[in-house]
Amino acid sequence: MSVTIGFDVYGTLINPHGVITELETFCGDEASAFSRLWREKQLEYSFRRALMQNYEPFSVCTRQALDYADEVFQIRLRPEDKDALMATYATLPAFEDAKDGLEQAREAGFRLFAFSNGSADALESLLSHAGLRDYFMGVVSVDGMKSFKPNPGVYSYFLRQAGATGAEAWLVSSNPFDVIGAMSSGMRAAWVQRSPDAIFDPWGMTPTITINSLRALADAIGTARP
Ligand code: LAC
Repeated sequence: MSVTIGFDVYGTLINPHGVITELETFCGDEASAFSRLWREKQLEYSFRRALMQNYEPFSVCTRQALDYADEVFQIRLRPEDKDALMATYATLPAFEDAKDGLEQAREAGFRLFAFSNGSADALESLLSHAGLRDYFMGVVSVDGMKSFKPNPGVYSYFLRQAGATGAEAWLVSSNPFDVIGAMSSGMRAAWVQRSPDAIFDPWGMTPTITINSLRALADAIGTARP
């Protein structure tokens, strides 16, 4: 059976900090710190909603996290500024290695899927806008499960949707919590450590492979088989 790969989207293919330039117009030097808090809170809200079984689409987590970051930094964004930032978030750019990495993985004959917390329509337009949609056989959204990563149910849901089993299925993610979640659910996982400063959670687990660029993915998976 051929290898199936689920690519995480935000943080792995698409850069969630691609909104920093626009943030600079509102918060100057604090734009990077604002963006980091926004992203951290977005994920925290998704974890909490999954745990509480109080699902709302990922865009709600993103918007509420934006409200939170605005309060912390006391920027006092107007509703229309927040709408504009959310619109930018819907058209974030791809990381510079994404296209090459996907191209090589497709050429290697792997079955490629996007697999994300984002809702299906948000993912379709985000990936199309970034020029990545055509690499995928399908887009799998946790919205079908009404929960979020790393609920083990969403990794099982991915496998069912992709028609794969854990032994031949890989998750590719820059997010350590996602790598750990997938491996705990029986998948193999590639951690994309773009910066040497990125730290893998010290939970006593090691990713199946660690790469510093998506350009190294196809070879690394090919070598890791079976
Ligand atoms: C995603 C989150 C992890 O794209 O950012 O699923």
